[in-house]
Amino acid sequence: MRRKIVAGNWKMNLDFQQADELIANIVKELNQHHRKDVDVVICPPFPYLMIADYEAETNGYFLGAQNVSIFNNGAYTGEISASMLSAMCVDYCIVGHSERRKLFFESNKDVAEKVNRLLENDVKPIVCVGEVLEERENGQHFSVIKKQVSEGLFHLTEGQMQQIVIAYEPVWAIGTGRTASTFQAQEIHSFIRGLVLEKYGAETANEIRILYGGSCTAKNAKDLFAMPDVDGGLIGGASLKANDFVTIAQSF
Ligand code: PGA
Repeated sequence: MRRKIVAGNWKMNLDFQQADELIANIVKELNQHHRKDVDVVICPPFPYLMIADYEAETNGYFLGAQNVSIFNNGAYTGEISASMLSAMCVDYCIVGHSERRKLFFESNKDVAEKVNRLLENDVKPIVCVGEVLEERENGQHFSVIKKQVSEGLFHLTEGQMQQIVIAYEPVWAIGTGRTASTFQAQEIHSFIRGLVLEKYGAETANEIRILYGGSCTAKNAKDLFAMPDVDGGLIGGASLKANDFVTIAQSF
């Protein structure tokens, strides 16, 4: 049985004190309501990894980053390597988020490189895929997602593929309050699992975790997570409120 996972993507939000308080409040909530069968991942901005890291060890959640360099080390001003993340006890790292694809021109090839660097350093990639509104309206969502999944991931071995978490995030649902319907989410999740099945076989397809992201809230998480191929969520806005985030993490 696949373990459930709920990851909070804080994006570039909160000042230091707010970040410190949010971690403390999440920890308090988790201590009261922790579900041992759910992996909770917190992905703060890089400078706050330290505060979160200290708590993570003792409080049973995993630490995640929001980005990683395609390079190993060297003269790449402003970049952060996978080995640095690993040294900071980072367990997961988001790759190919639609904001990075759109605003920082991250390509499927970059995604593939970042995934490689992470796996070389024992950090689990959370690889985001998803169509923009126009692509959905033109009926291109399946082909867009197939391209993102195959170009970003299908160079991996079967063993490596089993380390991957995929997040389906329809771009039109991110930060808009417009969530995919449970039907739309399940349809794409089962499509993605089918692609993995075709390429890697049943064991990997059954193993790989596929998260939904895009205006997932404490109100709609339960319905979305009840879908057979939805293994949890990648949560943006609602991960900035401890109570909402922990409620989502219990919505299975
Ligand atoms: P949202 O963001 O939950 O605020 O829509 C999700 C994401 O961007 O990962």
